[in-house]
Amino acid sequence: FNALPPVNEPVKEYRPGSSEREALKKALAEFRSQETDIPMYIGGQEVRTENKLRISPPHDHQHTLGYFHEGDASHVKQAIEAALSAKEAWANLAWEHRASIFLKAADLIAGPYRARINAATMLGQSKNAYQAEIDSACELIDFLRFNVQFASDIYKQQPNSSPGVWNRLEYRPLEGFVFALTPFNFTAIAGNLPTSAALMGNTVVWKPAYTQVLSANVIMEALNEAGLPDGVINLIYVDGPIAGDVIFKHPDFAGIHFTGSTKVFQTIWSEIGANINAYKTYPRIVGETGGKDFVMVHESADADEVATGLVRGAFEYQGQKCSAASRAYVPSTLWPAVEARMKLFLSQIKMGAVEDFTNFVNAVIDERSFKKITAYIDKAQKSEKVTVIAGGNYDGSKGYFVEPTVLLVNDPAYRTMCEEIFGPVLSIYVYEPSAFEDMLHVVDTTSPYALTGSIFAKDRQVIEHVSKTLQNAAGNFYINDKPTGAVVGQQPFGGARASGTNDKAGSALNLYRWVSARTIKETY
Ligand code: NAD
Ligand code: ALA
Repeated sequence: FNALPPVNEPVKEYRPGSSEREALKKALAEFRSQETDIPMYIGGQEVRTENKLRISPPHDHQHTLGYFHEGDASHVKQAIEAALSAKEAWANLAWEHRASIFLKAADLIAGPYRARINAATMLGQSKNAYQAEIDSACELIDFLRFNVQFASDIYKQQPNSSPGVWNRLEYRPLEGFVFALTPFNFTAIAGNLPTSAALMGNTVVWKPAYTQVLSANVIMEALNEAGLPDGVINLIYVDGPIAGDVIFKHPDFAGIHFTGSTKVFQTIWSEIGANINAYKTYPRIVGETGGKDFVMVHESADADEVATGLVRGAFEYQGQKCSAASRAYVPSTLWPAVEARMKLFLSQIKMGAVEDFTNFVNAVIDERSFKKITAYIDKAQKSEKVTVIAGGNYDGSKGYFVEPTVLLVNDPAYRTMCEEIFGPVLSIYVYEPSAFEDMLHVVDTTSPYALTGSIFAKDRQVIEHVSKTLQNAAGNFYINDKPTGAVVGQQPFGGARASGTNDKAGSALNLYRWVSARTIKETY
């Protein structure tokens, strides 16, 4: 495989009057004016059921964008059978031919599908045009292209041989089928989880979140058009626990590629453990889960950079990024300047529907999320430990809108400093500079997560010290930058502790989990 190494897909800007903006507006209008009917895809067949569930934009929840067909346990069984039937031919296909299909899908998404997939992400998941572009276009395209490069690197790695002995490693896919269980918040992740396992020769049952169906359907359309053989990826809409109940008891269950909440991952892990005697092979368990991502500020930092990092890190996509900055520790010497800059930036931010391209903040994903986030805000407003210094208002009447909210907290162990809220809520603790070392201990120990984190400082000794002291507190560590926005091929992504198995999406480390190598020694 000697193709040119991939480059990251350039981000389009959607400037007013540009052809890309017009194409996107057209795609948005099409989704808005029609009721899309979304089937499951099992063994290459479109499957429809009597049970049609409504899709609506989170920012306009009374509007109907369409319906998707929900299946039951029988569809899960059909999807597993389809995956197992497709397995041999797919696994035996030379890997370059599997790769070509995903490269073609990347090109389709970069070209003719771009407006459609971005519009689906904007409307279905309430992402503004920029957030949709960096996710459902650029990051998804990058995953598809870079994974081919990583796979090529893996397949090339061979052990040493010696005179009279030829040693070889065969990178076989896992024995059985892989389950991809994906979250609502990144279309790119939803696309990467089934396709990365499939690239390595596995066949897959894919169940996305019900709040991501509109864009999941576009991914499947692109894969089908790219020539993905029937049954390689089977897309089902079945309630998670019902799907899990069939899958985790199946003898051919070979692995799960999961991204979602810590609680759900732990439940799944227990179910797999409880069924361990049922399987032919130990299933691979790969999960990227929750976060309580920190921003640690040293007094040598630049206040402007800190304020920008906090506002962007905490409030882009309404704080619904696993990587979102959700707790910050700011020295009292810098706080007045940081507070003033943050308030200025927040006063310039607009909130509303995605169709108005000037809205930075859109709606949170659904009513359940809205209730969870606003319950945190309500409790914080009543607590003596908290002063609300920005936001705090919400309105769910037309869409699930929650203002970007900044809580000044006088106890670094207060719940909003420790628990994942997954919404536009940033908690800040202001410390005396002399307590810097204690703060590092607080950062490391007050939350169970270890996904992303930032240090803002100009003092190089401090940067080095924090990097070492907090080496286990984040799988992705940023120096003088917000803790979000990892780019495929540049910052492999994932965390440990309660944040996951740290199998670094966007790197070969992830793809290794989808092969089971055979060593061959031949004596001649
Ligand atoms: P979620 O855990 O609610 O759902 C994830 C998937 O699991 C969905 O498809 C859902 O339907 C399914 N599911 C839920 N309960 C299930 C059960 N009992 N059995 C089987 N399947 C079940 O997560 P979400 O709300 O879609 O996404 C947000 C979460 O994902 C946050 O916690 C966020 O931090 C995390 N996340 C992590 C990363 C990362 O890389 N670490 C990236 C994105 C999102
Ligand atoms: N890749 C996403 C980010 O880094 C999760 O924000």
